[in-house]
Amino acid sequence: MTGEEVAELARRVEAAGADMINTGIGWHESSVPTMAAPVPRAAWIDAIRNVKRAVGIPVMASNRINAPDVAEEIIASGAADLVSMARPLLADPERPQDAREPRRRDQYLHRLQPSLP
Ligand SMILES: Cc1cc2nc3c(=O)[nH]c(=O)nc-3n(C[C@H](O)[C@H](O)[C@H](O)COP(=O)(O)O)c2cc1C
Repeated sequence: MTGEEVAELARRVEAAGADMINTGIGWHESSVPTMAAPVPRAAWIDAIRNVKRAVGIPVMASNRINAPDVAEEIIASGAADLVSMARPLLADPERPQDAREPRRRDQYLHRLQPSLP
């Protein structure tokens, strides 16, 4: 899909009554790597920002966002209103607490990645 097609889809989702949109970009079987470790953190932020600009409802950033500082930067930049973390929270449910406790902030965990089929 083109960026404009994605934006139009987002507008239609909003018009249909959605309260918010989570921009899940893809998964481990996508033809283009979307979530593997070699994908840079927040690699899909331009696509997420495109959705954010298209709608008025809150937009959630997703995929390869596994560090509190990256999440904070995304929200501060206005590219999204909130951030989802799937594997980071599966690997370490205490990560939100880590964000409040700088002693563990820089420990980025990817240990679930090798176990994905
Ligand atoms: C255990 C697990 C199962 C998943 N199953 C699906 C799925 O069935 N379909 C899908 O589109 N994405 C699936 N995903 C991908 C997530 O929706 C999400 O896009 C991905 O985990 C990237 O976010 P993250 O970097 O925060 O983990 C799965 C992810 C995990 C960790």
